[in-house]
Amino acid sequence: MLRSFSYYQPTRIHFGFGKLEEVGRIVSRYGKRALLVTVPPFPALEPVFEKTKRLLRKSGVEVAHFDQVIPNPTTESISRGAEMARDFRADVVVGLGGGSSIDTAKAIALEVTHEGTAWEYHLFGERKVTREILPIIAIPTTSGTGSQVTAVSVLTNPKERFKSAIVDPLLFPKEAIVDPDLVMTLPQHLTASTGFDAFAHAFESYIHVNANPYTDLLALEAIRLIVRFLPPLLCDLSNREARAQMAWADTLAGLSIANCGTTLPHGIAMSIGGKAPWVMHGEALSVVYPEFIQRTAPYALERFAAIARIFRPELSQEKDEIAAQELGDIMVSFLKEIGMWFGLEDLRIPREELPEIAEYTFKLPDYTVNPWVPTKEEVLSPLESAYSRD
Ligand SMILES: [Fe+2]
Repeated sequence: MLRSFSYYQPTRIHFGFGKLEEVGRIVSRYGKRALLVTVPPFPALEPVFEKTKRLLRKSGVEVAHFDQVIPNPTTESISRGAEMARDFRADVVVGLGGGSSIDTAKAIALEVTHEGTAWEYHLFGERKVTREILPIIAIPTTSGTGSQVTAVSVLTNPKERFKSAIVDPLLFPKEAIVDPDLVMTLPQHLTASTGFDAFAHAFESYIHVNANPYTDLLALEAIRLIVRFLPPLLCDLSNREARAQMAWADTLAGLSIANCGTTLPHGIAMSIGGKAPWVMHGEALSVVYPEFIQRTAPYALERFAAIARIFRPELSQEKDEIAAQELGDIMVSFLKEIGMWFGLEDLRIPREELPEIAEYTFKLPDYTVNPWVPTKEEVLSPLESAYSRD
């Protein structure tokens, strides 16, 4: 029976090579004073930062540049950006970069317009988003987080060693400029790690207990594109077609989580990120996936089988039980192929942290929407088996 559902997506998407050229026209619709939010300049992206400022100024938009975004954004880094936005009297925030930059832009846009700090608005935090925040324009320079089209900002409280998220429809960017030219210089490991994050978004929204026909469409297409284009892209990082397809797959997967969400692997990966901020989000996910598939597949055979058949169309001849079971081995081969085969040990996570990582997984809602809802012990034991890999 076809499921009832609602779908909401207010972000206008501008997709294609050269779309950055339109940034001035797009941003000027929202105001004449823009806060540009990026990481500190480095050689591969500095020309993009400068070009963006030039294009904005050419369209009559004044720019203040907050270039202090850090990976796994913290409450302090966000507050520094919010202070700059207030002093500058910014009326629009432009997040240019990977997920950390776009999420920082969202949190700044919130903090400037609301009482207290952005952290107080995280899931189960004491405050709620109550009114419009500053308009956000998102311009990704990685293909992985989907943040350009989601209502989520992921942030970390280093004092609590807890990574959580602000989730509210008012956080949707007004517009997203997805220009594959901006991901052409992304190095090998970042391409693999962010690409696997996009894969995980599509996978988890497809097996999510609240998946709907619209998100299924988006998620399956994203998985299909990533399986087809990520491995060849990693063999030739200058492959423009594969770069564009990955940027599109990331956007599709983002659209899917924006109307569905992530499940258990993201809950565990966020918990790992809170305890070990040096670990990339995609790396944390890659560690979790083999055991997650093994344990969850029996509870959603049809869906796991459908994903297995994207990797190996010949599994269409087999029953769902067989195809779903194969997905465990398929995933191990895929992770090895894309250079993402790690154990927690390889990511320098002390073994004694594992019980707390398992415990913090339950501070986030992701596990509740997994087809199999584990207990704390049932999260700890796969983490132990994922500690060392051959
Ligand atoms: Fe993610």
